[in-house]
Amino acid sequence: MWGTMKFFLDTAIIEEIREANSYGILDGVTTNPSLVAKTGKTFYKVLEEICEEVKGPVSAEVTAIESPKMVQEGKTLAKLAPNIVVKVPLIKEGIKAAKILEEDGIRCNVTLCFSAMQALLAAKVGAAYISPFIGRLDDLNQDGMELIGEIRQIYDNYGYKTEILAASIRHPLHAKQAALLGADVATMPFGPMMQLFNHPLTDLGLDRFLKDWEKVPK
Ligand code: E4P
Repeated sequence: MWGTMKFFLDTAIIEEIREANSYGILDGVTTNPSLVAKTGKTFYKVLEEICEEVKGPVSAEVTAIESPKMVQEGKTLAKLAPNIVVKVPLIKEGIKAAKILEEDGIRCNVTLCFSAMQALLAAKVGAAYISPFIGRLDDLNQDGMELIGEIRQIYDNYGYKTEILAASIRHPLHAKQAALLGADVATMPFGPMMQLFNHPLTDLGLDRFLKDWEKVPK
């Protein structure tokens, strides 16, 4: 499999998005109602700020739970910016809505996925992304990473193009395992994304290089 491993930031906090973007490693953003609530701003204000900063996909979640309303909300959200991806929950109505929206040319991210067969349903309706929640499965003593591997295998068996967006990532090891298993995207909070840079031997080595550099005649 060839391509790029994409990193999305799982936040609605614009300062975090700006900082991650400044390092050149940010491919997109995922939000959800809980993350938006933390900002204290309106949903539309948050999306406007994010889409001004990020050119890659920005997931915005619908809050309706019946497909006609989901479709309506999705269409309104999609009008805000060309890079908006409409997030719908993996319930019957969400799958129905995803099919309608995708047929209308609006990309969907099917969220709250906790099983491989749920992921297959999202692929069957042509969703752009499926979001399996790794950390929340781990919290229940189930192997979230195993789910990523299963979805990868099933999608590859049939050539489904739906991208696997590993979500609910809690630490760098989750991100590494997702990459090893061939997830297309890892979405993570700011903290874990910044931790990806760190290694104590890098800091120690740089410290030594800089100290030795002082001994070089100038
Ligand atoms: C995904 O798009 C969700 O916003 C997110 O990854 C959920 O993560 P959590 O389990 O840490 O809330």
